[in-house]
Amino acid sequence: MAQLWGGRFTKETDKNVYLFNASVGFDKRLYRQDIEGSIAHAIMLEKQGIISLQEKDAIVKGLTEIREKLESGSLEISEDYEDIHSFVEAKLTEMVGDAGKKLHTGRSRNDQVALDMKLYVRSEIIEIDEELKAFQEILLRIMEENLETVMPGFTHLQKAQPVTLAHHLGAYFEMFLRDRSRLTDIYKRMNFCPLGAGALAGTTYPLDRGYTASMLGFEGPTLNSMDSVSDRDYVIELLSALSTIMMHLSRFSEEVIIWNSNEYGFVEIDDAFSTGSSIMPQKKNPDIAELVRGKTGRVYGHLMGMLTTMKAIPLAYNKDMQEDKEGTFDAIDTVKECLLMFMQMMDSMKFNKDVMKRSAARGFTNATDAADYLVGRGVPFRDAHGIIGELVLKCIEKNKSIEEMSIGELKEISEVFEEDIYDAVSLKSCVERRMTTGAPGPEAMKAVIADYRKYMEKDYLEKGGKKK
Ligand code: ARG
Repeated sequence: MAQLWGGRFTKETDKNVYLFNASVGFDKRLYRQDIEGSIAHAIMLEKQGIISLQEKDAIVKGLTEIREKLESGSLEISEDYEDIHSFVEAKLTEMVGDAGKKLHTGRSRNDQVALDMKLYVRSEIIEIDEELKAFQEILLRIMEENLETVMPGFTHLQKAQPVTLAHHLGAYFEMFLRDRSRLTDIYKRMNFCPLGAGALAGTTYPLDRGYTASMLGFEGPTLNSMDSVSDRDYVIELLSALSTIMMHLSRFSEEVIIWNSNEYGFVEIDDAFSTGSSIMPQKKNPDIAELVRGKTGRVYGHLMGMLTTMKAIPLAYNKDMQEDKEGTFDAIDTVKECLLMFMQMMDSMKFNKDVMKRSAARGFTNATDAADYLVGRGVPFRDAHGIIGELVLKCIEKNKSIEEMSIGELKEISEVFEEDIYDAVSLKSCVERRMTTGAPGPEAMKAVIADYRKYMEKDYLEKGGKKK
C-alpha cells in the first residue's frame, strides 16, 4: 500500500478501504497521458523559476525513462499504488530523488486526473474518427461498384420502391458522416487544458497555464478552476456520440442479419466472418452482426451510468468522479472493436445482385411509378392511386407482376394504359428516373458520391485543434 498522503493520519488505512478506494487497476492505462502532462508541467515550472534547470532535467529524464520501461515491459505498474499518479511519482522519486518530490508543486491530483482523462479522450476521438473514415472508404467502394444494383427499398419492412445497393449503403455513409462531425464538435469544445487549476482554487505559484496548454496541444487553459476539476461533460458527450455510433451499427447489423437470412438471401457473409452451430451442420450464423447489435446495450449503459454518477455532485472534485473511467474505457474499446469487426465483415461480404433484383421485381415496388404513368396521361393522382390499387389486386389474383399483365388485361382496368407502360414500370427506369439530389438514380448518386469523395479528402479534426 503506497499512497501520496498520510501525514495527518494516526492509523493505517483499512486494507479493504484501500482496495475500494484505489483506481490503479484501471487508471493504469492513463500512464502515457500522466507522463506527458507531468513533463509539460515540469518544463513550465522551470520556465517560471519554480524549480531549477537541473531539477527539471532530472524529472524529464526520469519520466521519459519510466515511459520507455513501461513500454518495453521492463517495468510493470504494480497494484500496490493507489492510482497511476502515485505510481509514476513514486517511481520518479526512486529514480531521481528529491527532484521527483518537487514535480507536484502547484498541482493537485484533481487537475492532474482531469488533464489525463482529457488527453486520453482526445486521442481516442481521433482514433475512432479514423476508424469511421476507414469504414466510409469501404462503403464508398461498395457504393461505386453498385450504382446499378437494384434492390427493394422498404418501409415497415414491406417492399416499397426500388432503390439501389449504392443508395441504401449511402444512408449509412451519411450516418457515419454525422458521427464524425459530432466527434469533431466534442473535440473542439473540450480542447482546453485544466492543468494548473490545482485542487479547486488554482494556486499561489506563478504558473503559466497558457504555456502548458499550448505545449499539450490545447486551444488554451480552462477559465474556471472549480469547473476545470469537476467537468466531465466531454466524457458524457463522448459516451453519447459513441452510443449514437452503436445505434447506427446496430441498425446496420439488423439489416445484415435480415439480408443474410435464408428467406432474403441478399448477401453472403464471408466464412471468415461467420460462425457455425455445434449441432446443426447446415448453419452459418451472422454472429458478428448479432454481437455488435448486442454490445450496443453496454455502451448505452455506460452513458446512463455516467449521467447518473454526475447528477448530484456538488462542486468541485468528489471521488465519485473516479467512476468516469471504467465505463468510458469499456465504451471506447467496444466501439473500436465493433467498428473494426463490422467494417471487415462488410468489406468481405458478397452481394447476391440477382436475388436482390428478383426481390425488387416482386412485391409491386413499381406501383407508384405505374400511378405516376397514369398521372402523366392526365389522370388525377388520387384516381390513379385507386386504379393501380385495383390493378395490384388483379395481379395478386393472377399471381403476376404489373409488367407481366398483357395490355388487354391492363386496358380492362383503365383505357389510359398503352404499350409504353411496360417501359415506364421496368425496374431500370423506376430507378433511373429518380434523379433528384439524394435519390437512387445512378446519375444522382454519382454526383453525391463525388461530393463524398471531396469530403473524404479533408481532415475535419485537424481544424478542431492540434492532433497530439
Ligand atoms: N484516482 C482519482 C480519480 O480518478 C484521482 C484523483 C484523486 N483526487 C483526490 N482528491 N482524491 O479521480
